[in-house]
Amino acid sequence: MEITKSKCLTGELSIPGDKSISHRGVMFGALSHGLTEISNFLQGADCLSTISCFQKMGVKIENTGNSVLIHGNGLHGLRAPDTVLDAGNSGTTTRLISGILAGQNFTCELTGDASIQKRPMGRILKPLKLMGAEISSQNGNDCAPLTISGRALHGIHYQSPVASAQVKSCILLAGLYADDKTSVTEPYLSRNHTELMLSHFGADIASEGTTASILPDPLLHGCRISVPGDISSAAYFIAAALIIPGSEVLIKNVGINPTRDGILRVCHEMGADIELLNKRSEGGEPAADLLVRSSKLKGVTIEGEIIPSLIDEIPVLAVLAAFAEGTTVIRNAEELKVKESNRLDVMVRELSKMGASVTGTDDGLIIEGGRPLHGALINSHLDHRIAMSFTVAGMAADGTTTIQDAHCVDISYPGFYRDMKSLQV
Ligand code: S3P
Repeated sequence: MEITKSKCLTGELSIPGDKSISHRGVMFGALSHGLTEISNFLQGADCLSTISCFQKMGVKIENTGNSVLIHGNGLHGLRAPDTVLDAGNSGTTTRLISGILAGQNFTCELTGDASIQKRPMGRILKPLKLMGAEISSQNGNDCAPLTISGRALHGIHYQSPVASAQVKSCILLAGLYADDKTSVTEPYLSRNHTELMLSHFGADIASEGTTASILPDPLLHGCRISVPGDISSAAYFIAAALIIPGSEVLIKNVGINPTRDGILRVCHEMGADIELLNKRSEGGEPAADLLVRSSKLKGVTIEGEIIPSLIDEIPVLAVLAAFAEGTTVIRNAEELKVKESNRLDVMVRELSKMGASVTGTDDGLIIEGGRPLHGALINSHLDHRIAMSFTVAGMAADGTTTIQDAHCVDISYPGFYRDMKSLQV
């Protein structure tokens, strides 16, 4: 994909549904009784992997394009799949489904693509084994492929070493099949979509501070879910509008759950002109329309408890930092090393190619902003968020930027390039 310097962005757009919420809607619908109807479902490859896994376990799921209908089998109604479950590129699918599979009455195998087979699963194997699960890494390296033999589980209290919604959700879902209450405490609060949505489906789930707990064996009932737009996808349009002079863009129906809105808080601190209009609740999740105007940005420090609330936005924040005046320091972001690619290394390597001053640290990045950026050949490392971040960088840089394997945006945003073009005048 070739990207050239863009004139100002104008107009409005609605971005696709939230990836995390779409995954959970399918999973919880499958475990419920009756019909679940999900509107504005994200048709990204990751969420389609989740649908396919549950179809293989005997759940009838109709995907009509914008909405998805799930005929739930109930908590104890999944069937042993005939083939290996394939989570594709999706960490959320792999980790959350593992929690569910640990409590079934059958054995199955779960794997994913080359990236998934390198991502750490020890973080879920450990708590699941403490719950009595029989789960193992086939290659003995704490990565997928996993073999999971479902059985009755014990309730535990788990002190998670990482602030990870995937780990938290895996344990809470296994807790549905435990003999007692299960709780998880994390160092900082991660996204809470599992807690909000499972409660909506009828689970007995509570949150206090950074601890979430769940009681076993609830009767889950199907629901209607309207998925708000994904703030992680909105981030690329926010960033592009901020750094391309003369831009004014209205991004409609964006989820602004406080466990996800760190990008807005950081942008405001950098001096961004972003107005939140029409604040409302969309399917039990807070949402708003965002009016973004190009702004003069300054460098900031991003660290500590805000990190989980913008974990997927750090690559595009690094791009913003390169266009801001002064230094941006990102700390406590070591989790980026184990995402779809090593996003700290990749950002250092690829942003440097464009002339940015960026240094990697053990747990983050230091970016000296304000240098003019020029086009370059960018290796996306098949990571959707890297491809989209460098599309934004390329639109604000001089010359032509070529993004290799640009199609990987299909993981979370199949219409990304088309939507970005629609704002260019
Ligand atoms: C997700 C949680 C985050 C995030 C991922 C989606 C989820 O991962 O990076 O894109 O849906 O629970 P961690 O919770 O492991 O940081």
